[in-house]
Amino acid sequence: AEISYVMIKPDGVQRGLVGNIISRFENKGFQLKALKLFQTPKDVAEEHYKDLKEKPFYPKLVDYIISGPVVCMVWEGDGVVASARKMIGATRPLEAEPGTIRGDFAIQVGRNIVHGSDSPENGERETAIWFKEGELMSWDRTMTPWLVE
Ligand code: GTP
Ligand code: MG
Repeated sequence: AEISYVMIKPDGVQRGLVGNIISRFENKGFQLKALKLFQTPKDVAEEHYKDLKEKPFYPKLVDYIISGPVVCMVWEGDGVVASARKMIGATRPLEAEPGTIRGDFAIQVGRNIVHGSDSPENGERETAIWFKEGELMSWDRTMTPWLVE
Protein backbone atom coordinates (compact mmCIF):
# COMPACT_ATOMS: atom_id res chain seq x y z
CA ALA A 1 0.00 0.00 0.00
CA GLU A 2 1.17 3.54 -0.70
CA ILE A 3 2.67 5.48 2.20
CA SER A 4 3.83 9.05 2.73
CA TYR A 5 6.32 10.24 5.31
CA VAL A 6 4.83 13.41 6.78
CA MET A 7 6.70 15.49 9.34
CA ILE A 8 5.68 18.48 11.42
CA LYS A 9 8.84 20.62 11.47
CA PRO A 10 10.12 22.34 14.65
CA ASP A 11 8.18 25.56 13.92
CA GLY A 12 4.92 23.61 13.66
CA VAL A 13 5.56 21.93 17.00
CA GLN A 14 6.59 25.21 18.72
CA ARG A 15 3.51 26.98 17.37
CA GLY A 16 1.12 24.37 18.74
CA LEU A 17 -0.10 23.16 15.36
CA VAL A 18 0.42 19.43 15.96
CA GLY A 19 -3.22 18.60 16.67
CA ASN A 20 -4.54 20.69 13.79
CA ILE A 21 -2.19 19.07 11.27
CA ILE A 22 -2.79 15.49 12.45
CA SER A 23 -6.55 16.14 12.38
CA ARG A 24 -6.43 17.07 8.72
CA PHE A 25 -4.94 13.72 7.75
CA GLU A 26 -7.26 11.81 10.09
CA ASN A 27 -10.30 13.67 8.77
CA LYS A 28 -9.31 13.03 5.16
CA GLY A 29 -9.37 9.30 5.88
CA PHE A 30 -5.76 8.24 5.56
CA GLN A 31 -4.58 5.63 8.02
CA LEU A 32 -1.88 6.38 10.58
CA LYS A 33 0.90 3.78 10.52
CA ALA A 34 3.51 5.43 12.78
CA LEU A 35 3.86 8.51 14.99
CA LYS A 36 6.49 9.96 17.30
CA LEU A 37 7.92 13.17 18.78
CA PHE A 38 11.61 13.16 17.94
CA GLN A 39 14.76 15.23 18.40
CA THR A 40 16.53 14.80 15.07
CA PRO A 41 20.25 13.91 15.00
CA LYS A 42 22.13 15.96 12.40
CA ASP A 43 23.04 12.93 10.26
CA VAL A 44 19.36 11.96 9.96
CA ALA A 45 18.42 15.45 8.73
CA GLU A 46 21.31 15.35 6.26
CA GLU A 47 20.27 11.94 4.92
CA HIS A 48 16.65 13.04 4.57
CA TYR A 49 17.55 16.15 2.54
CA LYS A 50 20.63 14.71 0.79
CA ASP A 51 19.28 15.63 -2.68
CA LEU A 52 19.48 19.30 -1.66
CA LYS A 53 23.09 19.11 -0.48
CA GLU A 54 24.38 21.50 -3.17
CA LYS A 55 21.72 24.16 -2.53
CA PRO A 56 22.88 27.37 -0.87
CA PHE A 57 20.19 27.04 1.81
CA TYR A 58 21.11 23.43 2.74
CA PRO A 59 23.10 24.23 5.94
CA LYS A 60 20.30 26.47 7.19
CA LEU A 61 17.73 23.84 6.28
CA VAL A 62 19.52 21.19 8.33
CA ASP A 63 19.90 23.59 11.28
CA TYR A 64 16.18 24.39 11.08
CA ILE A 65 15.15 20.73 11.10
CA ILE A 66 17.33 19.92 14.13
CA SER A 67 16.42 23.12 16.02
CA GLY A 68 13.73 21.40 18.12
CA PRO A 69 11.51 18.33 18.25
CA VAL A 70 9.61 17.26 15.16
CA VAL A 71 6.56 15.01 14.83
CA CYS A 72 7.28 12.09 12.50
CA MET A 73 4.35 10.30 10.88
CA VAL A 74 3.63 7.68 8.27
CA TRP A 75 0.22 7.85 6.58
CA GLU A 76 -1.13 5.12 4.31
CA GLY A 77 -3.74 5.06 1.57
CA ASP A 78 -4.22 5.03 -2.19
CA GLY A 79 -2.94 8.33 -3.56
CA VAL A 80 -1.70 9.51 -0.18
CA VAL A 81 1.57 10.96 -1.52
CA ALA A 82 0.00 13.36 -4.02
CA SER A 83 -2.93 14.14 -1.75
CA ALA A 84 -0.67 14.99 1.20
CA ARG A 85 1.35 17.34 -1.02
CA LYS A 86 -1.90 19.08 -2.02
CA MET A 87 -3.02 19.33 1.59
CA ILE A 88 0.40 20.75 2.56
CA GLY A 89 0.47 23.34 -0.26
CA ALA A 90 3.24 25.02 -2.25
CA THR A 91 6.81 25.05 -0.91
CA ARG A 92 6.72 28.86 -0.70
CA PRO A 93 3.90 29.57 1.75
CA LEU A 94 2.87 32.89 0.17
CA GLU A 95 2.13 30.87 -2.98
CA ALA A 96 0.25 28.16 -1.09
CA GLU A 97 -3.53 28.24 -1.46
CA PRO A 98 -5.66 29.14 1.55
CA GLY A 99 -7.02 25.90 2.94
CA THR A 100 -3.66 24.19 2.69
CA ILE A 101 -1.47 23.83 5.77
CA ARG A 102 1.21 26.21 4.52
CA GLY A 103 -1.39 28.53 3.01
CA ASP A 104 -3.18 28.78 6.34
CA PHE A 105 -0.24 28.97 8.72
CA ALA A 106 3.06 30.04 7.14
CA ILE A 107 4.84 32.94 5.43
CA GLN A 108 8.43 31.91 4.67
CA VAL A 109 9.95 28.96 2.80
CA GLY A 110 12.46 28.52 5.62
CA ARG A 111 9.62 28.14 8.15
CA ASN A 112 7.07 26.15 6.21
CA ILE A 113 5.84 23.92 9.05
CA VAL A 114 5.46 20.54 7.42
CA HIS A 115 7.09 18.03 5.09
CA GLY A 116 5.49 15.46 2.80
CA SER A 117 7.20 12.89 0.56
CA ASP A 118 7.27 13.88 -3.12
CA SER A 119 6.91 10.35 -4.59
CA PRO A 120 5.85 6.88 -3.39
CA GLU A 121 9.51 5.80 -3.66
CA ASN A 122 10.54 8.64 -1.36
CA GLY A 123 7.67 7.71 0.96
CA GLU A 124 9.36 4.33 1.44
CA ARG A 125 12.89 5.78 1.54
CA GLU A 126 12.09 8.45 4.11
CA THR A 127 10.04 6.10 6.29
CA ALA A 128 13.12 3.85 6.51
CA ILE A 129 15.28 6.83 7.53
CA TRP A 130 13.02 8.03 10.35
CA PHE A 131 11.46 4.81 11.70
CA LYS A 132 12.61 1.41 12.84
CA GLU A 133 10.57 -1.52 11.54
CA GLY A 134 8.94 -2.18 14.91
CA GLU A 135 7.60 1.36 15.04
CA LEU A 136 5.31 0.79 12.05
CA MET A 137 1.87 -0.57 12.90
CA SER A 138 -0.30 -2.76 10.72
CA TRP A 139 -3.75 -2.51 12.18
CA ASP A 140 -7.32 -3.12 11.09
CA ARG A 141 -9.32 0.05 11.16
CA THR A 142 -13.03 -0.70 11.43
CA MET A 143 -13.85 2.57 9.64
CA THR A 144 -11.99 1.62 6.45
CA PRO A 145 -15.00 0.08 4.60
CA TRP A 146 -16.83 3.40 5.14
CA LEU A 147 -13.97 5.28 3.45
CA VAL A 148 -12.99 3.03 0.53
CA GLU A 149 -15.00 0.40 -1.36
P1 GTP B 1 9.58 19.34 1.93
O1 GTP B 1 8.24 18.73 2.04
O2 GTP B 1 10.12 19.88 3.22
O3 GTP B 1 10.56 18.42 1.23
O4 GTP B 1 9.36 20.64 1.02
P2 GTP B 1 9.10 20.69 -0.55
O5 GTP B 1 9.11 19.32 -1.15
O6 GTP B 1 7.87 21.52 -0.75
O7 GTP B 1 10.36 21.52 -1.07
P3 GTP B 1 11.85 20.98 -1.40
O8 GTP B 1 11.94 19.51 -1.20
O9 GTP B 1 12.24 21.57 -2.69
O10 GTP B 1 12.70 21.72 -0.27
C1 GTP B 1 12.81 21.13 1.02
C2 GTP B 1 12.76 22.23 2.06
O11 GTP B 1 13.90 23.06 1.94
C3 GTP B 1 11.59 23.18 1.95
O12 GTP B 1 10.42 22.72 2.54
C4 GTP B 1 12.11 24.38 2.71
O13 GTP B 1 11.99 24.18 4.12
C5 GTP B 1 13.58 24.37 2.33
N1 GTP B 1 13.79 25.26 1.19
C6 GTP B 1 13.51 25.03 -0.11
N2 GTP B 1 13.84 26.09 -0.88
C7 GTP B 1 14.35 27.01 -0.02
C8 GTP B 1 14.88 28.32 -0.18
O14 GTP B 1 14.93 28.86 -1.28
N3 GTP B 1 15.32 28.94 0.97
C9 GTP B 1 15.25 28.37 2.19
N4 GTP B 1 15.70 29.05 3.28
N5 GTP B 1 14.76 27.15 2.39
C10 GTP B 1 14.32 26.48 1.30
MG1 MG C 1 10.67 17.94 -0.78
